[in-house]
Amino acid sequence: MDRIIVKPSGPLYGDVEINGAKNSALKIMAACSLAEGTFHLMNVPDITDVRLMSELLVSLGMTVRENDTNSLEITNPGNLTAEAPYELVEKMRASIVVLGPLLARYGKARVALPGGDDFGPRPIDMHLRGLEMLGAKFASEHGYIDGHCERLRGSRIVLEFPSVGATENIMMAAVLADGTTIIENAAREPEIADLASFLNRMGASVLGAGTSTIVIEGVEKLGAVEHAVVPDRIEAATYLAAVGIAGGEINLIGARPDHMDMLCQKVGEMGMRISADSNGLWVMANKSLKAVDLATLPYPGIATDYKPFLVAMLAVSEGVGIVTENLFSGRFRYIDELIRMGADIRTEGHHAVIRGVENLSGAPVRAHDIRAGAALVVAALRAQGQTEIREPSHIDRGYENLVENLSSLGADISREN
Ligand code: EPU
Repeated sequence: MDRIIVKPSGPLYGDVEINGAKNSALKIMAACSLAEGTFHLMNVPDITDVRLMSELLVSLGMTVRENDTNSLEITNPGNLTAEAPYELVEKMRASIVVLGPLLARYGKARVALPGGDDFGPRPIDMHLRGLEMLGAKFASEHGYIDGHCERLRGSRIVLEFPSVGATENIMMAAVLADGTTIIENAAREPEIADLASFLNRMGASVLGAGTSTIVIEGVEKLGAVEHAVVPDRIEAATYLAAVGIAGGEINLIGARPDHMDMLCQKVGEMGMRISADSNGLWVMANKSLKAVDLATLPYPGIATDYKPFLVAMLAVSEGVGIVTENLFSGRFRYIDELIRMGADIRTEGHHAVIRGVENLSGAPVRAHDIRAGAALVVAALRAQGQTEIREPSHIDRGYENLVENLSSLGADISREN
């Protein structure tokens, strides 16, 4: 059984290179199904989810080669099989983003329904409604969603909520539709803007990505290109939280502070010092943090993916903080693990009340998902005795070298099996 062992670690010092964003790389890889040719993707993180997306692309008929570190060569020979099998979708929900591009390119797509997960129900109704407005028709049977269409037609789509996945699926379908598509109330995450800039390099016409209104002028054909994936703001936030909890001073090389405004503001209120420089982001914590209240919101609000780290920070801050989760109803499961480590946290619906304690206490805990697992790792830096994080494979889905990087900063951390 693999596990990560963490012992209390003093201040962290040094530099960490921030990798490309998982949630951008996966969508850009899916977008390679839109055009024939050979794509070169740089700054792709070496993580399990990227390997799963590679498997999915191979099962569709593409070839994926790892060239140098963090770079992929993806060849799309055309004539792909437009089916994403359950075995892969079950392992990675993000597989659903092949639906839009396959429909647009092949007029059909069959994708296994992803089902719920540790965050609670995760519907895809907005993805389907948006694609239907472009002219697709769907039937659902035997656990699969079967879509087909003639050439898609541009339309004005108002999203009920700025869903990241729905915005991406619709955008990737609309680039090959006939006419103009307008997505209102679109998600504004930096990863959406990165996907749009990739599509534009391919020859698409996408305007406004990164704002709530995206205008897409459909084109006949797209081509293969090269692209470097935007840095991962969530990975950067993980190391930032590690410093908040253990103290110290580190440089997050390559991080994009402009993608992390609200987080920087919040941790500044908690007492951390943060400064953007030409290399990325410098962060420092030299005293106990102060508790704050916060609520997760779509970008540019505080990302739900930051929340587990912020909760871990609040668990060892002075005072009481109230955290409200507005995106995923079930995204508090890791709190039980923090409580096992001595945190004083009470949850009520989508709120958590966190009373800071001086130190946590090492215990065996389980990583339920990528961010929850990473949050337990950073919390363990302030836990007396030894913390053993089980099922670290969840962490591997989204982090390249988390253990090695924290160790290089001075943390007492190792992985055993
Ligand atoms: N929603 C619907 N219907 C839909 C789509 C979404 O009701 O058709 C709801 C969801 O249930 C949720 C909310 O809308 O309550 C937001 O979901 P969204 O679609 O924005 O999330 P996602 O695309 O499924 C991505 C990231 C998540 C991140 C969220 C929110 C990827 C692969 N995943 O998920 O990242 O938490 O956006 O920012 O991009 C992670 O990296 O570990 C991760 C979970």
